[in-house]
Amino acid sequence: MTGVIDSYIKEIESFHSRNHDETEKFRIKFLSKKGIIASLFEQLKNMPPEQRKTMGQKINTLKNKALDKIAVLKEQSLPSKKESVINDPTSPAESIPMGSRHPVSIVRKQIIDIFSRIGFTVEEGPEIEDDWHVFSGLNFPDEHPARDMQDTFFIELNPDILLRTHTSSVQVRVMETQQPPIRKIFPGRVFRNEVVSARAHCIFHQVEGLYIDKNVSFADLKQTLLFFAKEMFGGATRIRLRPAFFPFTEPSAEMDISCSICGGKGCNICKYTGFVEILGCGMVDPNVLEASDISSTEYTGFAFGMGIERVAMLKYHINDLRLFFENDLRFLSQFKGDIT
Ligand code: DAH
Repeated sequence: MTGVIDSYIKEIESFHSRNHDETEKFRIKFLSKKGIIASLFEQLKNMPPEQRKTMGQKINTLKNKALDKIAVLKEQSLPSKKESVINDPTSPAESIPMGSRHPVSIVRKQIIDIFSRIGFTVEEGPEIEDDWHVFSGLNFPDEHPARDMQDTFFIELNPDILLRTHTSSVQVRVMETQQPPIRKIFPGRVFRNEVVSARAHCIFHQVEGLYIDKNVSFADLKQTLLFFAKEMFGGATRIRLRPAFFPFTEPSAEMDISCSICGGKGCNICKYTGFVEILGCGMVDPNVLEASDISSTEYTGFAFGMGIERVAMLKYHINDLRLFFENDLRFLSQFKGDIT
């Protein structure tokens, strides 16, 4: 068997290939599952134990020779264009693809910029929260459906620990550690136990806003949100507030903006209503202020919360929420212009 292996080694050393097909035939002959080397290893099993070690080493040497040869042959068959580029020191450098910011990061930054111009500062809070900061401190009754397993990701073993379902939780954290005046926004990631579809996702981003001071009124809320809408979607944008319910605000409203696609005339994006929903808002419920030891007779405040993906979808006319999470470069590279 030693003689046979030696002759294979010679064959490998003297082999020359003229093209890819010949190299591939050579690889199959020696290295494929049914090739020479595999069959030699197979024969090894039937050899007397004292010979096995030396023969095994020989077959391994043969195998390494074959692998090295293939590597050399592949290297030699690199396209000649590349060689000439490498050898030509005057040829221009290959361009490096420029990265781009993710649309969620772009819009997050725009929202922060707009509110910082009217005195809001940024605060962040934890994504893994307790029941108090996400629900109880925000006046959610014990039996409120949002606490349900259907909506909330609880951490197994401890029903008090959960992934926050909204960034309103940061309101509570700020109110329990600071006294008014408070004028802050809270951007962050939130989690909901939703089936992923074009309109819903189990992870998304929100920006929450909170303003508490003496004599803060609903008119202040309306003016702040109108300013935001015009800055974000253009000066001609109109807003519309519809009565709504949230446990932590009273009164509460949902805000629509005039459709940026048809300018309010009616199209399939706004379902021919001329308006699209963008955020929830309201006057902070006195129970919420008192739960965090802020006097509800001395202070009033407003709060609002919006989805960043929602704003991005309206701004860039994106119709499927899943696109934000798939990391498809064909989608992401379209935001190249916005690298600020
Ligand atoms: N937290 C709400 C949500 O996730 C959004 C929201 C609505 C926030 C009204 C607010 C508000 O501060 O006042 O759906």
